[in-house]
Amino acid sequence: MRAIFLAVYRFAYTNIIRRLIFRSSAQETHQQMLRLLASLDRSPLFNSLLAAARRLVFPPHECSVGGVRLTNPLILAAGLVKGEGFETEEQAAAAVARGENIIPGWRAMPRLVGPVEFGSFTRHPRLGNPGVIVWRDETTHSTQNRIGLRNPGVKAAAVFLARHRHNLPACFGINIAVSPGITEPDRQEIEIAESFRAFLDQNIRPSWFTLNLSCPNTEDDPGSRQTEEQTRRLCRAALDAIGTDNVPLWVKISPELAPEQYRVLIRVFHETGVQAVIATNTLPRPAPNDPALTAGVGGGKLHAAALEAVCILAREKTLNNYAVDIIGCGGILDGCSYRQFRETGADAAQYWSALVYRGPLAAALIESELQHGNT
Ligand SMILES: Cc1cc2nc3c(=O)[nH]c(=O)nc-3n(C[C@H](O)[C@H](O)[C@H](O)COP(=O)(O)O)c2cc1C
Repeated sequence: MRAIFLAVYRFAYTNIIRRLIFRSSAQETHQQMLRLLASLDRSPLFNSLLAAARRLVFPPHECSVGGVRLTNPLILAAGLVKGEGFETEEQAAAAVARGENIIPGWRAMPRLVGPVEFGSFTRHPRLGNPGVIVWRDETTHSTQNRIGLRNPGVKAAAVFLARHRHNLPACFGINIAVSPGITEPDRQEIEIAESFRAFLDQNIRPSWFTLNLSCPNTEDDPGSRQTEEQTRRLCRAALDAIGTDNVPLWVKISPELAPEQYRVLIRVFHETGVQAVIATNTLPRPAPNDPALTAGVGGGKLHAAALEAVCILAREKTLNNYAVDIIGCGGILDGCSYRQFRETGADAAQYWSALVYRGPLAAALIESELQHGNT
């Protein structure tokens, strides 16, 4: 039954739905998808149907990774369920008070695909970058974006999630990024602590927190946060803020760091008590409409660099017996690209671009291709 459903879905998405969707630009599609998610969130009936669809297409595959019991080892990466942008904290709070859905997809996406990482959220709300900010490259099955950490800020996000606590999924993560432009280490630590506490103080305990040290599309320099000293400070600040609340901490890092930098980072994660590393975020590349700006590349063009990062991290982990799980992320588009990560040492995986090229049930297709050895 599952195999037949997935075969029909694969045919329909690749040959009909994707062709129709790709008549619109990546940016228009992205906005339409968020509007669709917001309306799906509203309907309990649709959410029950989405959950039924998930039970039908996802084989039961529980696993333990990074201190978390996952219903499935393929996690929807941060960046889709991250919320609207606002100029000020007051405006974001007012939208929550009016009952607006400031985080489209919070309810529907986990029902349909299982584990989802919400965010990135920053300490204060951000409108993100103006103009065209999302692209796709169909020949390589890649995406590119410079959304620029558009999000409602941690305070409004936490109040919003608290308001909906009874309908939150059993398994979800919250990804928190350091605000771009904050360079003083002390200020960064305060922001990180306040951001984690914003959720915990509202009694929102996700299955895991991710500290995102690697957002490339804000003209900020994420590389400077991934030095030994800075990473250690930020991880400690996050872990101190989590305190006795007992939520595992994961950290998301960049592709194309020097091999020695990956070796240092995984040692720091082991020493500080970070339970998993997500390798990697997007590749910083010139934006298609303005080479002076940077936009992060995901999908096919990221795959080799992300796999290389996982390879170095996994070797170092085995050599030193580090207690840090590795979550591969970058161009996981089918069973073959997923298998490469698994064989290289990834304990689980995250995906984003696969949603674009293989549709909302991408993870179910990828899992089934891995199981049956076809792509
Ligand atoms: C439109 C878009 C927005 C994203 N926003 C975030 C974000 O806010 N935080 C984050 O950690 N990663 C973000 N990402 C990166 C993804 O989580 C993922 O790391 C990256 O796309 C690589 O995975 P992929 O090759 O499967 O696309 C975003 C990606 C896309 C395409």
